[in-house]
Amino acid sequence: MALYSEKVMDHFRNPRNVGVIPDADGVGEAGNAKCGDIMKIYLKISDGTITDVKFETFGCGSAIASSSMATEMIKGKRIEDALALTNKAVTEALGGLPAHKLHCSVLAEEAVKAALLDYYRKNGIACDEALLAPHACAFGEGETR
Ligand code: FES
Repeated sequence: MALYSEKVMDHFRNPRNVGVIPDADGVGEAGNAKCGDIMKIYLKISDGTITDVKFETFGCGSAIASSSMATEMIKGKRIEDALALTNKAVTEALGGLPAHKLHCSVLAEEAVKAALLDYYRKNGIACDEALLAPHACAFGEGETR
């Protein structure tokens, strides 16, 4: 069986939404200290809807595929829907990731949440910061780090 699904390979080879939004309404970054990979997400938000999203990822193929899929999953969605994004949903949308690569999808969830937190802070909107903080992912501990 192939190590990576066709969807992972597609999003790795042809990543969607790569780039920077210079006047982004929210910018979030997430990194993994062990592998050193870093992901940055830029959001444009209008009337509670994510109208544009871009990413820059310095990392492995799974991290690039996860970033690409995560941006596709939140583009055009309401903030509440983006807040509900989990690394598990990103992984499932990619057709799965090898166990030792699940932490790559965690970066995508964390970067999206960091960008939303940045948006809330910039606009003085009260929110439950605990909901947006990095947390244990939806997979069991040990599968991800
Ligand atoms: Fe660390 Fe993929 S993000 S190996």
